[in-house]
Amino acid sequence: MTEEYSLSNLPDLKSLTAINYDSVPEKDRPKISTIGVLTSGGDAPGMNASIRAVVRAASHFGIKVFGITRGFHGLWKGEFDEIGTRQVSETLQRGGTFLMTARSKTFETPEGVLKGAQMCKVFGVEALVVIGGDGSYKGARDLARIGVPVIGLPGTIDNDIACTEYTIGYDTAMNTAMEAIDKLRDTASSHERCSVIEVMGRRAGYIALNVGIANGAEVVLIPEQPFNIERDVVRTILDCRNMGKRHYIVIVAEGAGDATEIAAKIEESTGIESRPTILGHLQRGGRPTLRDRLMASLMGIHAIECIQKGMLNRLVVYHKGSISDVDIEKGLRMKKTISLEELNRSKYLA
Ligand code: F6P
Repeated sequence: MTEEYSLSNLPDLKSLTAINYDSVPEKDRPKISTIGVLTSGGDAPGMNASIRAVVRAASHFGIKVFGITRGFHGLWKGEFDEIGTRQVSETLQRGGTFLMTARSKTFETPEGVLKGAQMCKVFGVEALVVIGGDGSYKGARDLARIGVPVIGLPGTIDNDIACTEYTIGYDTAMNTAMEAIDKLRDTASSHERCSVIEVMGRRAGYIALNVGIANGAEVVLIPEQPFNIERDVVRTILDCRNMGKRHYIVIVAEGAGDATEIAAKIEESTGIESRPTILGHLQRGGRPTLRDRLMASLMGIHAIECIQKGMLNRLVVYHKGSISDVDIEKGLRMKKTISLEELNRSKYLA
């Protein structure tokens, strides 16, 4: 910690700013020899591949790595274990995260942040790699604000982190959903039914929109675009039926509506037998696709290259076809919105 904070002298975290190393010459940046790595928030396929890349790239540069279990929860409790290159073998192809993860509320409190920083000090951890989504990044930023340097790697199936165009786990989740929906389509077709499928995404419709296109859905409902059930669902299904269609796929992102209620409404209004399916956590598991393994590995290497150069308090991002990094404060201020134009254009295919 750059300053010695205790609960009694800890300023309001909102009044602090993490050091931005953009304008600090390389010779004046910190030299890091020990880091910690943790996964936090919802797990995502490819998280193991990114931990592996962090550990192996760190070893290449002679940096010692502590694996911290259960995300910020483990950080807070001091669950640190040194990991070397051999301990990450056979992890690349595995779903989930072998470091385990948690959604920690403690880290939303100044006490939690302070305790985490103190634990880093106890174990001699000079910088922390946090693999997770937006919520985890906020925890990381707060640590950075009190002087624990951090690097964020985007790990979430939702692809809803503003500063990056791609997040680790997104591709696998979409492929898993797509394969499941292909199967549901077979049975919907045999029975001339409407299949209403809920995919993950409480606040973001990226999975829904893309699998909607990839699976040829008649209707896609996402949280970013309010809908009218009569106009946008019932009427569309009836138009499709009148055009000669005999089975129908409706994709609903979990944050947009309830698949069971929507299926009941379709059946009641159209007389077409409708069945809801909630894909749920199925989408978070499984072996990562090539794209996720590759992105996770390259982003993990990039994280260590940042650390090696003393370029700290950065979020690793994918932008315009290449991997780079942005200052954490700046990255967290960015906003991302789904292309509603893309949603509207996808309707041409119904
Ligand atoms: O990690 C992202 C996500 O899978 C969202 O799509 C979903 O809304 C949420 O997590 C579910 O979280 P939990 O596993 O804590 O119920």
